[in-house]
Amino acid sequence: MKPTKIADGVYDVGVIDWNIRDFHGYSTDRGTSYNAYLVIDEKVALLDTVKAHFADELIGNISQVIDPKKIDVVISNHTEMDHTGSLPRIMNLVGEDKPLYCSKMGAKNIASHFPNTWNYHPVRDGETLSLGKRTLTFMETRMIHWPDSMFTYLKEDHILFSSDGFGQHYAGFERFDDQAGSEAMVQAKKYFANILMLYGPRILKLLEKVVASGIRIDTICPDHGVIWRETPGEIIDAYLRWSRQEAEKKAVVIYDTMWKSTETMAKAIAEGISLTGVKVKPIHIRSSHRSDIMTDVLDAAAVVVGSPTLNNQMFPTVADVLTYMKGLKPANKIGGAFGSYGWSGESVKLVAAELAAMKFKLIESGPRLQYVPDNAGIEACIAYGKKIGEAVNAG
Ligand code: FEO
Repeated sequence: MKPTKIADGVYDVGVIDWNIRDFHGYSTDRGTSYNAYLVIDEKVALLDTVKAHFADELIGNISQVIDPKKIDVVISNHTEMDHTGSLPRIMNLVGEDKPLYCSKMGAKNIASHFPNTWNYHPVRDGETLSLGKRTLTFMETRMIHWPDSMFTYLKEDHILFSSDGFGQHYAGFERFDDQAGSEAMVQAKKYFANILMLYGPRILKLLEKVVASGIRIDTICPDHGVIWRETPGEIIDAYLRWSRQEAEKKAVVIYDTMWKSTETMAKAIAEGISLTGVKVKPIHIRSSHRSDIMTDVLDAAAVVVGSPTLNNQMFPTVADVLTYMKGLKPANKIGGAFGSYGWSGESVKLVAAELAAMKFKLIESGPRLQYVPDNAGIEACIAYGKKIGEAVNAG
């Protein structure tokens, strides 16, 4: 692919992964990209690499801008192998003695991934590196997304190279936010909900520190998806909102169903919620990927979960979603549980216990109906939905 010029002497030389559809259980239905950046000054720096099997393409892209052997400095902002997989090829090509800048944790982690004797330069938070006329500043950003993660800031061009931060799993020849349109924010939200939500408090602290420092950021270059050159402020504001887990007046009713009884209940509960003026979305688990469900959970004020009872347990797909959800640590949610059963009916209690373990504020014991809901059962579901909606409105 032709490299993308970002500023004079600054290029994205990364690759597009058009066909990836699963990334550790995250449905990457729009593919992704692994971005890598060249900064050409008196010294030439390469920031990050790409997955191992795209190494040839990366080298081809770099070669369209500069002879790879002229790279003086390699910087690894994050050790995960979608960004370091090609590091062995790159170090071999540019020279194993060339300095490799990374965080202290990065130096340890890279050595645990690739046996090597590279010339590590572990950096402190705030440490700078002069490339000649331009200066790079390294910022420690632990847990965005690994303990080794850091950002690199190019002062003279006001460009932030943000590794996984502000990324999106989005493949496209549209390399900038203004070219991709609203899809960039849609995919950024999904990325945050599924990869970074649990680190929200830490991200919030970091962003507040960055905002307070007054550093000017004109362009954000993440390692996935489009580059934010038109709306860097909007994506930073979105990250502040998402990190705080600010909720909209919105509820999700997530359920699975066997003979459509739990589905009938879900629709009636959703109807009850809707009667209070709260936006609501019923989501059938086997019709939606867990990563799309989490995107809806991120800014929902209420999460209501329904399950039939199967062999004295909640339905397995419901357990899958709840396990995934628990790991991502959603906060400040109103919770509700409901379900249908044939003869034992443990699911509602089990689901409620999972929601309570996530510290959701539970709205009493939700409807638990045997076999097929009758009119009274449906009315009970509508009434339960109204209670949920009223709790959301009471905020
Ligand atoms: Fe895109 Fe955490 O790697």
